[in-house]
Amino acid sequence: MKNGIFISFEGPDGSGKTTQIERLAAFLKEQGYECLITREPGGTAISEAVRGILLDPAYKEMDYMTEAMLYASARAQLVAEVIRPALSEGKAVISDRFVDSSVVYQGIARGLGIDEVYRLNGFAIQGLMPSLTIHLDLSAEEGIRRKKNQAELDRLEQEDISFHAQVTEGYRTLAKLSPDRIHTIDATLPVEVIEERIRALVQEEFGK
Ligand code: TYD
Repeated sequence: MKNGIFISFEGPDGSGKTTQIERLAAFLKEQGYECLITREPGGTAISEAVRGILLDPAYKEMDYMTEAMLYASARAQLVAEVIRPALSEGKAVISDRFVDSSVVYQGIARGLGIDEVYRLNGFAIQGLMPSLTIHLDLSAEEGIRRKKNQAELDRLEQEDISFHAQVTEGYRTLAKLSPDRIHTIDATLPVEVIEERIRALVQEEFGK
């Protein structure tokens, strides 16, 4: 049996993670992996319930610390209930967002601090990190343009352009801090070009 592999996708809202995750999963299946796709916040009954609280536009008063801890608790449940068991069964796990989202959105854009948010999440993930992280880089303007046709925006999507600009910059900063794990691809490239680059990175990392 193959060893499990853990890949995360990161990037601003609207950067096209979902499309690329589906394409990568199809590719990994062709390579003989059993594939599990999961999303954050969510992926378990408890984590989806926490997601409901986090993204509800009604909770305008949510303190940033509360927000960071709720994301971390949804993650703790996902790691324990889904990701660790799947990896130990040799599956390929692809996560739509992981710890880096908290570091960028809560640590950088909300200003709680990169180290502080990694430390808080250390408790939730107990040392589990993806071997490979695909960062789809997108400007705040393009992200907002892509979301314009969407009927309802969630609590975080309703933030102003300066928040989204900090998210974009935050990801670029983080990618520079972890160049061995986080690989950046321009999200405005054609879908097929991005797909090909991701495959190349996966083959390089996992010899597939
Ligand atoms: P996501 O499900 O990716 O939203 P969408 O499907 O609309 O792209 O993520 C929901 C929002 O939560 C998104 O705006 C990013 C934010 N987020 C954080 O702020 N911190 C986190 O740790 C995670 C996982 C997501």
